[in-house]
Amino acid sequence: MNNHLIIFDTTLRDGEQSPGASMTGEEKVRIAKMLEKMRVDIIEAGFPAASPGDFAAVKTVAEVVTDSTVCALARAAKGDIERAGEAIKPARSGRVHTFIATSPVHMQEKLRMSPEEVLERAVWAVKESRRYCDDVEFSPEDAGRSETDFLCRIIEAVIKAGARTVNIPDTVGYNVPQQFGGLIKQLMERVPNADKAVFSVHCHNDLGLAVANSLAAVMAGARQVECTINGLGERAGNASLEEIVMAVRTRQDVFSCDTRIDTTQIVPMSRLVSNITGFLVQPNKAIVGANAFAHEAGIHQDGVLKKRETYEIMRAEDVGWSANRMVLGKHSGRSAFRQRLSELGIEFKAEEQLNSAFARFKDLADKKHEIFDEDLQALVTEEGLEHTNEHLRLIALRVCSQTGETPHAAVTLAVNGEERRADAPGSGPVDAAYKAIDSIVQSDSQLQLYSVSNITSGTDSQGEVTVRLERSGRIVNGHGADTDIVIASAKAYLNALNKLVSREERTHPQLGQPI
Ligand code: KIV
Ligand code: ZN
Repeated sequence: MNNHLIIFDTTLRDGEQSPGASMTGEEKVRIAKMLEKMRVDIIEAGFPAASPGDFAAVKTVAEVVTDSTVCALARAAKGDIERAGEAIKPARSGRVHTFIATSPVHMQEKLRMSPEEVLERAVWAVKESRRYCDDVEFSPEDAGRSETDFLCRIIEAVIKAGARTVNIPDTVGYNVPQQFGGLIKQLMERVPNADKAVFSVHCHNDLGLAVANSLAAVMAGARQVECTINGLGERAGNASLEEIVMAVRTRQDVFSCDTRIDTTQIVPMSRLVSNITGFLVQPNKAIVGANAFAHEAGIHQDGVLKKRETYEIMRAEDVGWSANRMVLGKHSGRSAFRQRLSELGIEFKAEEQLNSAFARFKDLADKKHEIFDEDLQALVTEEGLEHTNEHLRLIALRVCSQTGETPHAAVTLAVNGEERRADAPGSGPVDAAYKAIDSIVQSDSQLQLYSVSNITSGTDSQGEVTVRLERSGRIVNGHGADTDIVIASAKAYLNALNKLVSREERTHPQLGQPI
């Protein structure tokens, strides 16, 4: 059996489907380039039929990525497949991933189609996709709750129609490992032409079993795993890439395959996705959580100092943990700045963007003498926000906070270019700043989450603030970074408010009829 496990990353597609995780085209390109550097085999760059912006983002990723296959998702519908095919056209290696639901509940209630109609449509969709590229993947959505006999029939038919990869999604995270591994084994044994396709899995984490289910499938013979950085994704998320990759790498005694991932890129990649989406990583998250390699109990520390294998099964440096390393400082010049960004996979299209980022860097270096990679990533994210969010912009913020006094904030914003000023008291400086902003913007949104974390260590660290807002069922995340956490908070709030105003209408791939 093939010993290469294909890593299919869907952070930019399924990951982006998690409420509030939407990314700009420029942010998607940054993530895609870093995924390529990490040696991901396939990058699912998005669902081009969702909106013109999504189409453009997939196309740009297809233009700039050369070492990974770039994949686009399409429902089993002509318009979707055409958009996907067009978007991946510039790719050196492109793939169309088409899907239709096969579980009784999805076929009856969502699609209102009979199993025979679904089978016919699946075959048609694969043949239609093959008109655009040879590399076609098919997914029977909600396979985890579909009838095995029907799955066998549809899989045989789509392979015959030209699907090279058959992906088995546990769309609602309902399966348990033994059962899911058993399903993959049965499908691979029972489908007569199973040897003509790669079997893939795509597990959701509703019961916290996405990684376990994916690994059970790998043991049963699956040779592609669909996963996301930090386990980002719809509801409880997808299988986390870092956990899959490190489980297989660490337990080569039980897995008969391995990936080609450069594991030293895992932690920087995790930070980049967290920084861009504003989804923080829990400290006890495996591999990439802040405590994943920290030892607290004295007895453990003693053991680790004597021989690290006593309590460590992986080396922190192998997954990209290194002590914060100062990369630039106050006296670093423009070319050192450009060089370090380029090493991080960040290139500016226009010289003026580089100049403005460099000016920000100099400002930051005045306040904070040691600049780390994490600071640079946050700075570039901020720079991108400045260019995309035109509606509301922070011009000035003054806060007064004193023991025994009510905190007060005065804020000046540019609202569509027009300067507006307001001030307000609050229970703390952040509350006062938000109230002052509210009195100008009157957004009618509800604050669902406010969190602050430090980007690097030390009291001079930049604070990174994430804000989640909800309005009429729509959820957006905003983020901002600054050495002053009240300013970071105001930036995050404005970022979220800008997203509420400006986001274009998008179609969700898995909800509704694909016709
Ligand atoms: O969860 C799912 O079923 C999906 C499909 C579109 C593959 O994301
Ligand atoms: Zn999914």
